[in-house]
Amino acid sequence: MSTLVAHEVSRSFGSGDAEVTALDGVSLSVAAGEVVMVLGPSGSGKTTLLSILGGLLRPTRGTVHLDGVLLDARSGDTPRLRLESVGFVFQSFNLLPALSALENVALPLRLRGVPRADAAQRAAAMLEELHLGHRLQSRPATLSGGEKQRVSIARALVGAPRVLLADEPTASLDTRRGREAVELLTGLARQGRQACVMVSHDHRLGAVADRVVELEDGRLGASPAGDTTVSAALPSERSEAVTLEADRCASGSSPAVVTRQG
Ligand SMILES: Nc1ncnc2c1ncn2[C@@H]1O[C@H](COP(=O)(O)OP(=O)(O)OP(=O)(O)O)[C@@H](O)[C@H]1O
Ligand SMILES: [Mg+2]
Repeated sequence: MSTLVAHEVSRSFGSGDAEVTALDGVSLSVAAGEVVMVLGPSGSGKTTLLSILGGLLRPTRGTVHLDGVLLDARSGDTPRLRLESVGFVFQSFNLLPALSALENVALPLRLRGVPRADAAQRAAAMLEELHLGHRLQSRPATLSGGEKQRVSIARALVGAPRVLLADEPTASLDTRRGREAVELLTGLARQGRQACVMVSHDHRLGAVADRVVELEDGRLGASPAGDTTVSAALPSERSEAVTLEADRCASGSSPAVVTRQG
């Protein structure tokens, strides 16, 4: 069974003439230990999709299940499920300014009831793995963009969540640090059998994923190297083709899907 299953997810913002359809009928399933890369240009709906997959935002239509449990941002159970099961690397980091790097990373563990010393030790080890051992006591305001991003990655990984969601995890990093961060993310996801979804506009990152799908104008399509079924379809056929493609992607059966193991 897939860990994370999004079914026909749509999301609109605003109403009337100002209505924006950020996502339009996206279906995606991610298995434990699988790394899926969603590539798309700015405004294609990547952050919206990740926020819905992580239970931070409600879809207008459609559903997301995590290990068979419906994620509903309105449900009282969802914050706990999210805390225990989802690691999120935010595009804008979302670090707490009053806390040190160490305290930021330890926070999800503390909220889960892990004793302070144990949480601090695990957080320090995670930060050291991301080359931030010298920054444990630094506040976010004193960190560079790349350092903040690595703190955010450490915070997402520290609790070994079942689902790892990363929004442009390399955007503030130089090429080498970016590759290291993504290799660490994907390596730990595979090792820990986590379902991992990363979104990016950078097609070079596709190489680290087991599966690559493209998001364009809120619709999920084939991989960049994939077949032309989706893009060649007539507009009226497109939505069905995309759904079929996404489902085939989900089952891993499509020859159009770029599959990279290991
Ligand atoms: N809270 C919101 N209110 C209104 N419109 C929104 C909101 N969030 C997103 N949108 C719109 O939805 C569309 C998709 O936005 P989203 O942030 O998901 O794109 P993205 O692919 O993450 O872009 P980027 O690569 O620039 O981060 C955009 O047109 C955006 O303006
Ligand atoms: Mg975004």
